[in-house]
Amino acid sequence: MAALFHLSAGRPYHIIVFGASGFTGQFVVEEVARCAAECPGSSSLKWAVAGRSRRRLEEVLKQAAGRLSMPELRTDIEIIVADVSIEESLAIMCQQGVVILNCVGPYRFYGEPVVKACVENGAHYIDICGEPQFLEQMQLEYHSKALARGVYVIGSCGFDSIPADLGILYTQSSSHPLQGSSGHDATWQSAVYGFADSRSLCQLRKKFGHKPLPVVGAKVKKRGFLFFSKELQQYVIPFMGSDPSVVRRTQRFLYEEEQQSPVQYSAYVGVGGLFSVFKLFCGGLLFWFMVKFSLGRRLLTMFPSFFSFGMFSKAGPTMKQIEDTCFSLTFYGEGYSEGRDPSQGRPDARICTQVLGAEPGYVATVSAMVQAAVTLLNELHSLPRRGGVYSPGSAFYKTSLIDRLHSHGIMFSVRNY
Ligand SMILES: NC(=O)c1ccc[n+]([C@@H]2O[C@H](COP(=O)([O-])OP(=O)(O)OC[C@H]3O[C@@H](n4cnc5c(N)ncnc54)[C@H](OP(=O)(O)O)[C@@H]3O)[C@@H](O)[C@H]2O)c1
Repeated sequence: MAALFHLSAGRPYHIIVFGASGFTGQFVVEEVARCAAECPGSSSLKWAVAGRSRRRLEEVLKQAAGRLSMPELRTDIEIIVADVSIEESLAIMCQQGVVILNCVGPYRFYGEPVVKACVENGAHYIDICGEPQFLEQMQLEYHSKALARGVYVIGSCGFDSIPADLGILYTQSSSHPLQGSSGHDATWQSAVYGFADSRSLCQLRKKFGHKPLPVVGAKVKKRGFLFFSKELQQYVIPFMGSDPSVVRRTQRFLYEEEQQSPVQYSAYVGVGGLFSVFKLFCGGLLFWFMVKFSLGRRLLTMFPSFFSFGMFSKAGPTMKQIEDTCFSLTFYGEGYSEGRDPSQGRPDARICTQVLGAEPGYVATVSAMVQAAVTLLNELHSLPRRGGVYSPGSAFYKTSLIDRLHSHGIMFSVRNY
């Protein structure tokens, strides 16, 4: 899908990749470079990299130049030195870009100064955060300020949680009218500190003062902590990531702003056979116990590979692991066919949506993040109101983001089941 880029007065870059020297940041740099190469010429994408070490950023551009066979990246791409702990440096960065792609995490430690600088300096903000506490805290504290400044702050635009959030919207809007690998250390740290501080999330949610969303039609039965899924033919457990929080925020937004009936949503993850369940149970208990103590948290973050059975490591996944991994999310939706009253009887329509893509943590994540930025730059008039803090679904529900993702390797499809 073609994209044309126009610059706001006084801002030399459409996109600034902040944290470009990080494990994920490097992939984002390559994806932005590919994206810029798709539409050369006078309306091409202007971009820069930012971070706290010029030397490391130069190295990233050198590597990207080699990997993509684009030697010009070494000379043509500007480097902006900015450190989260130096407010002025963030302000200078944010004054130069239309959108800041923030890859500096864990967000609970480093995210807020960047959101604040973006809002105060008129730059839109996109991140790949998977930490519900940070995402909801930013909504509580910055929504009104961002709205007043005409700035969009859109978190969780990576694998957490674009496929889930847009997958639900895709299911809701499809032809049946329904109502109703290995990861890198920073992601592991986000999980450790997120679980350790889960009580604060409950307190934070009370501050919103939300009324419960209405239940349309028959109430979906709560499944147990562990059950055998007929659909997946394996044992499944509730999904503990940020998707449910993000989907709930989108559903609330669409209910309050667009009077759409909210869906009842639960997320589960397949864990395999009984032996895997046993391993997960032992690992989960140990993890749950250790995150409660500072010594436990220190050990968990010092030895990610040992405590996650090799799922996370300080080195991150190898290229081979990344190439050999893919993801699949399946949404089983039940609802009422057109003309049927949801208050009468059980749902009579069932559809199944599938979202498929390449390796989720980095390939799909950067593709989703960069396409979210391109959509924001190209379709600003289709985003809600004139600014604010949004989940991806609430920000992009009127845009072509799903089509853009489709043509960049994240496929959405729907069928009856
Ligand atoms: N949503 C998803 O699916 C998804 C997928 C992948 C990652 N993530 C999230 O993305 C975040 C980054 O992960 P990662 O694995 O790329 O982490 P990482 O390799 O540790 O990179 C962190 C980046 O932050 C920079 N940084 C740290 N402190 C800074 C400061 N004070 N000022 C400026 N920059 C600073 C680092 O710069 P230096 O190079 O100078 O140290 C580095 O560029 C994590 O929160 C992770 O959970 C999300």
